Amino acid sequence: MIFKNILVTGGAGFIGSHLVRLLVDKYPDTRIINLDKLTYAGNLANLRDIEDRANYHFVKADICDYEAMLKLLKDYEVDAIVHLAAESHVDRSIEEPFVFAQTNVMGTLSLLEAAKTVWQKEDNWQSKRFYQISTDEVYGSLQDNDSLFSEISKYEPHSPYSAAKASADHFVRAYHDTYALPILISNCSNNYGPYQFPEKLIPLFINNIRHKKSLPVYGKGENIRDWLHVEDHVRAIDLVLHKGIVGQSYNIGGFNEWKNIDLVKELINCTDRLLGREEGEDMDLITYVADRKGHDLRYAIDSTKISKELGWKPVYDFPSGLEQTVSWYLEHQDWLDNVTSGRYVEYYEKMYNNR
Ligand code: NAD
Ligand code: DAU
Repeated sequence: MIFKNILVTGGAGFIGSHLVRLLVDKYPDTRIINLDKLTYAGNLANLRDIEDRANYHFVKADICDYEAMLKLLKDYEVDAIVHLAAESHVDRSIEEPFVFAQTNVMGTLSLLEAAKTVWQKEDNWQSKRFYQISTDEVYGSLQDNDSLFSEISKYEPHSPYSAAKASADHFVRAYHDTYALPILISNCSNNYGPYQFPEKLIPLFINNIRHKKSLPVYGKGENIRDWLHVEDHVRAIDLVLHKGIVGQSYNIGGFNEWKNIDLVKELINCTDRLLGREEGEDMDLITYVADRKGHDLRYAIDSTKISKELGWKPVYDFPSGLEQTVSWYLEHQDWLDNVTSGRYVEYYEKMYNNR
């Protein structure tokens, strides 16, 4: 598939910014439109290195604004949508479920309806793509140590975040089954890497280790997550977008499971080493705190399908990916400070008002 105008929603966020960079670099003849509302998680500084490229365009908009979505799809003659815009943090969803339903469910529905309305009028509408970026959390929790989530695992979400993502996925599938909208879905495991908002485990803990602040491990730290470098995720997204079969879903993960407490210890060793401290000297920062409500025990992805059918495999091994990530955060303290202080929000609002 070759697309002329790819719309990436949520392109100023963590995964979205890596995806936009990859697409802008790899497809110079394709216009990449980054649509983002710039919530607390959206940060255009993530894209400063490519913001002047001729094939890159930024539009500040809310996916829930149906009229704006209709206009944007028409004006930019969008032929593929990669939909990442969402509220993404589980802890926040426990506090503010309405926001998650609004953005993740209603926002997705607004975009689907706009795509259907605009694309249905065109002869070649089967060559369009609506690609939903989803999560392994929709499958719920694995209770044993052996099983893996596959593409046919049942959806059993537990948190308001995963319930909203699951609901959005069901709408995406419904638009395929009801209106023949050409859709794709992928479900990925936990991502790590540069530009992740420091409310998530890895960047939060790197920042805290640096500042000798406590590391709040939920419960006993026995929950298991399957970690994948964000650049491996966006390479998979590129493959699914260009080669995936319409109507299909693809699981993406690195066969890289870590118990939280073991990951935290690894992170402390790595961060101490890179800071020139004695390895492990910050172990006493670990503080066991009350567990997350409804905390899923284990996620683990079987990514055999995307490997066999589309030839994807991760490039990063975990130790080198983690070291690259820790180094990045240590070298970008200004980014962390701006994000944690909220200063960048003010800065970019001013910049936009002056344009
Ligand atoms: P993020 O929170 O870093 O970024 C989300 C982006 O969406 C932000 O730039 C934000 O401004 C934007 N946004 C939020 N609401 C919006 C709205 N109403 N209109 C337009 N833009 C809006 O999230 P992330 O970690 O990069 O995740 C991106 C997507 O990938 C999400 O859909 C998430 O569910 C999915 N996902 C994330 C992971 C992970 O480990 N982070 C794993 C699997 C899937
Ligand atoms: O699995 C994919 C999902 O991964 C994505 O869909 C979500 O958008 C993304 O946020 C992530 O969800 P998690 O809840 O797994 O990620 P988080 O970094 O918040 O937490 C990872 C694990 O660490 C989880 O078991 C909770 C635990 N944790 C987290 C934080 C922030 C702690 O023990 N202490 C903490 O302070």
